[in-house]
Amino acid sequence: MRSEMERDILKVLVTEEELKARVAEMGVELYEKFEGKNPLFLGVLKGSFVFVADLVRACQLKSDIEFIAVSSYANATSSSGRVKINYDLQQDITGRHLIIVEDILDSGNTLAFLKEYFMTKGAASITIVTLLDKPSRRQKAVYPDLAGFEVPDEFVVGYGLDYAQQYRNVPYIGVLKPEVYSHK
Ligand code: IMP
Ligand code: MG
Repeated sequence: MRSEMERDILKVLVTEEELKARVAEMGVELYEKFEGKNPLFLGVLKGSFVFVADLVRACQLKSDIEFIAVSSYANATSSSGRVKINYDLQQDITGRHLIIVEDILDSGNTLAFLKEYFMTKGAASITIVTLLDKPSRRQKAVYPDLAGFEVPDEFVVGYGLDYAQQYRNVPYIGVLKPEVYSHK
């Protein structure tokens, strides 16, 4: 029997197996880049929570983990360009090597804002890691240093990504059936 969430999924874009394999590779790449540097993983909530949990275990660096929560005054499925901090850093990041962990880089508004914000807070370096990259909709000149998968211009859910706060616990990346959106 398929779950109530699975019945809403039109198609799978990235399977659980593909996610696992790619996250393992990304962990190794970050390990090689940051060995001996004691980086700070900085997850952007809420969407990155699943990815952060898997990535930090795939990357056995001496490191610590911090979170920031932002929202982008969004309408349903696209960003408005204005970013608001809902939960701020709980520690001084002066001189730290930051690994920003995002679920998806879409318009670039969120990461353009965060990069600037962390620079003003004195970060020594900023590396942008995103699970998904949707380059077709970029409005700001922000590029990932490391991206898991490129996705087409479709609204995706799962592995932390939501639609109206739901579907974050779908274990793969998928696209919802059109009728799910029209019911909201
Ligand atoms: P940006 O500021 O437009 O780059 O968008 C970043 C944020 O918008 C992401 O961190 C997501 O939370 C959200 N977002 C953008 N595209 C999608 C999508 O396809 N599915 C779910 N959330 C998305
Ligand atoms: Mg997000």
